Amino acid sequence: MGVSEESRLVIVSNRGPVAFERDGESEERAYSRGAGGLVTALTAVSRRRDTVWIASAMTDEDVAVARESESAVEVEDLRVRLVEHGPEAYNLMYNHMANPLLWFVQHYLYNMPYQPELGESTRRAWEEGYLPVNRNFAAAVAQVIGEDDRFPIVLLHDYHLYMTPLMVRERLRRAAFLSLFVHIPWPQPDYWRILPRDIREALLHSLLQADVLAFHTRRYARSFLDTVSQLLGAEVDFGRGAVRYGGREVWVRAYPISIDAGEFEEISERDEVLREEREYVSKLPGRLLVRVDRMDLSKNIVRGFQAYGRMLERHPEMRGEVTFLAQLQPSRGDIREYAEYAETIQDVIAGVNAAHGTGGWKPIELSMEDNFPRAVAAYRNYDAILVNPVFDGMNLVAKESAVVNRKNGVLILSENAGAHEELGEHALTVNPFDIDEQAEAIYRALNMSEEERKRRAAALKETVLSNTIEDWVEAQFEDIRRYMRRHPVRE
Ligand code: G6P
Repeated sequence: MGVSEESRLVIVSNRGPVAFERDGESEERAYSRGAGGLVTALTAVSRRRDTVWIASAMTDEDVAVARESESAVEVEDLRVRLVEHGPEAYNLMYNHMANPLLWFVQHYLYNMPYQPELGESTRRAWEEGYLPVNRNFAAAVAQVIGEDDRFPIVLLHDYHLYMTPLMVRERLRRAAFLSLFVHIPWPQPDYWRILPRDIREALLHSLLQADVLAFHTRRYARSFLDTVSQLLGAEVDFGRGAVRYGGREVWVRAYPISIDAGEFEEISERDEVLREEREYVSKLPGRLLVRVDRMDLSKNIVRGFQAYGRMLERHPEMRGEVTFLAQLQPSRGDIREYAEYAETIQDVIAGVNAAHGTGGWKPIELSMEDNFPRAVAAYRNYDAILVNPVFDGMNLVAKESAVVNRKNGVLILSENAGAHEELGEHALTVNPFDIDEQAEAIYRALNMSEEERKRRAAALKETVLSNTIEDWVEAQFEDIRRYMRRHPVRE
């Protein structure tokens, strides 16, 4: 039988679409909804069919919700099933396996500049963290899928869940469509050799239990094919993007994610955004260079400031003519490398400000807080925006900012951001390791003729708008239908 509109849909991701909190004053249960393309897109899909979204219980109140109810809870138009993992297992999965290790390997950060340790602690993180958490997710999937469900569709998301495909197959023992979307880069095969052999082989073996492996770019899909060919000896058809493994066929595809442009434009006019614009962003002197990022090593924040410092050195006439607003959201602070990175960033900023600043002018303005309205206000007002990740799965800052900016702002974009595959030709492309090149790109962006700025900004916006978030979802469902036609299953 094939997939139909009746097939139940199960979405699984570590971070869910809602987080519950207990309101300090009223003591009532409240929730906040995650922003972002993934949540918007999948919520739209879930309206069309019977859907449950499974995610980790992260807050204390999430845990209370998870304990109260073994089944999904309704939150507006979503049905969410929260899974409690136990604090130590979750800590080992999140702070020891997924984020420092897999994240570092997949962003080519290993050994650079920090040196996460591989050893006994890795094995413990794997056995007592990553595996149990993945087992919990698989158990929740099996529980959510009812006896009568004909051919459920299970969409798994990201690097916290690499062992879940295998565990779901083992538990379900019946036909189901399974895909896993990798939202972060997929590095070259040799880089995977950093991981202990048994662990990397287990991960790859599990991933190939899915029917479709999805990435944001062709480049990462291609790397995945290379990896399973070289490290697992799997039979790969590079032309078709298919892997034959264990008697099954797995498709490897690229679906570049987009944003909900309409929603973003609406957000950009909200009072709280306009207030930030009036009271903060527009008070910064000179032309405005912006960056908006989670404080993550992959974002290459330090080299960005070094490049800006070099630009001021080489072009002293720019002093006092520009402010660099860095809107940085604290992230994963329990991981040593992240905490140290936050300190390094502040040191580098202090250095640039001391070297170039004057009494009335601060070259870099740091806003280190989770402040979404301010980020959007910065998007509206930049003359140039720096998006220079070392590597990035997609990078939505490049897309969101292009849609709401009002100054014909110029995008300076790393050639290793997934977004570069679509947006590169309208941006100023930089090699994220090359400080000189980034310094010159910043200078050029801030001194470009109005005509060229206009042309680039319009093309950028149009490119973002031409691939909608609905297109992203539809392309995946089209392949699910195609896959099912090619591989009909008898139940
Ligand atoms: C990246 C990952 C997501 C993750 C997000 C935020 O975009 O692909 O899976 O949710 O970063 O990171 P956090 O650790 O806060 O969930």
